[in-house]
Amino acid sequence: MINFFVNTSYLIASTCMILAIKMLATPQTARRGNLVGIMGMFWAIVAALVSLKLDNYWLPIAVILSGAVVGVFMALRVQITALPQMIAILNGLGGLAAVFIAISEVLSKSQNDVSNIMSLIIGGITFSGSIIAFGKLNFPRWSKSISFAHQNLVNLLLSLVVLGFAFGYVLQDHVEAFYALALMAMVMGILLILPVGGADIPVIIAFLNACSGWAGVCVGLSLQSPVLIVIGTIVGTGGSFLAYTMTRALNRSLLNILIGGMAAPNSAKNADEPKIANVGSPADAAFLMENAGKIIIVPGFGMAAAHAQHALKNMADVLRNKYQVDVKFAIHPVAGRMPGHMNVLLAEANVDYGDVFELDDINGEFQDTDVAYVIGANDITNPQAKTNPNSPIYGMPILDVAKAKTVFFVKRSLGTGYSNVENPLFFASNTFMLYGDAAHITEEIVKYLEA
Ligand code: TAP
Repeated sequence: MINFFVNTSYLIASTCMILAIKMLATPQTARRGNLVGIMGMFWAIVAALVSLKLDNYWLPIAVILSGAVVGVFMALRVQITALPQMIAILNGLGGLAAVFIAISEVLSKSQNDVSNIMSLIIGGITFSGSIIAFGKLNFPRWSKSISFAHQNLVNLLLSLVVLGFAFGYVLQDHVEAFYALALMAMVMGILLILPVGGADIPVIIAFLNACSGWAGVCVGLSLQSPVLIVIGTIVGTGGSFLAYTMTRALNRSLLNILIGGMAAPNSAKNADEPKIANVGSPADAAFLMENAGKIIIVPGFGMAAAHAQHALKNMADVLRNKYQVDVKFAIHPVAGRMPGHMNVLLAEANVDYGDVFELDDINGEFQDTDVAYVIGANDITNPQAKTNPNSPIYGMPILDVAKAKTVFFVKRSLGTGYSNVENPLFFASNTFMLYGDAAHITEEIVKYLEA
């Protein structure tokens, strides 16, 4: 009877997880998807507890509840701009859990050597790699690529030693070799992620997310837990696919990111050539916009930081309703600080999905556009990605805002963005800087439009 309950619950939990992932794919169903995922996790926990057949359930319940309290506390406190850091920590905890389970399996004389070793290695790499990724995301000073001579050779040698220890453990069954493997896997994780820098970090977060899923699959094989195998596979394939699509969006390959690192920022500054940027005002912007036929809005990280999405939606509505302007939103795949960042914020402000276009679908339209309103975005418009092979962002597709008749950049200064690369577009003759907080400037423009 207990087995029937446990197996049925695992089936329900796995189905909930698959449905949740499906529903999380669009903003319309994402909230419900989240609830379905919570239900699935609840069933999985209940079934796992029941399957333990313990005399006393207080300890596991107390541990789960304290974990839940910490999780709720973190989720309530985290700013949306800091979500990638939180994901990095959660990936790392998944990896660490896989390491602990692998060790406990070995101590309890489990015979699943291969899956235990895989859990340990993937979990160890995920744990230490995620800690480094968290540091790079959270402390901009650490975000640059850190490398040393013959790093790839050291990585290769370390991989061979890890393989040697893994075989050694399988043949000799020495638990000390297993502990040494855990340590080496963690060193590998650090060495693998240290050279990654700048704009490549988001891809690495997706990659580590996939690793935490694959570590879960290995743990599932060790524990013979179908629900862990299913959920681990969902996370592993989802993360892998995300990393793949992001590398494509940045025009790089995962191998290139991992072994190639990223060139040090090259701002292409020319000290002999003072550059002057045109400065505009909200009144100028309102005047040009109300007389425009077509406007494309390009949001970036600064829109999120300033919570400007509601003001932006308001501005688009006034332009459409009062001045009959054609207003569209253009989204770059790595705008902001996490996949889908801009889409989520625009959806929160009730911007119609039909007005939001992906890079490939809208890039050809800038040449027929009167005004490109670039709000808190920088790297995703930087022409150095096309023109400067020494630039760290070289090869990343950009939104061709420069082709619009007039470009407004709303930001607080001429400062660089995430990649620390100067944007020559600020000094173009058809660009006007609107200095200030993205929400404040947009609200000011709306006042002029409504007057
Ligand atoms: P960024 O290039 O980082 O530029 C954002 C700009 O926003 C900054 O130059 C900043 O200029 C401005 N800003 C900040 N706060 C502002 C505020 N309150 N009001 C107005 N402006 C403000 O952003 P982007 O163009 O969205 O490009 C994203 C970058 O992040 C890419 O390099 C991408 O690879 C990287 N990245 C992406 C992700 C994902 S998955 N989306 C994750 C991590 C990193 P001022 O300081 O002058 O105001």
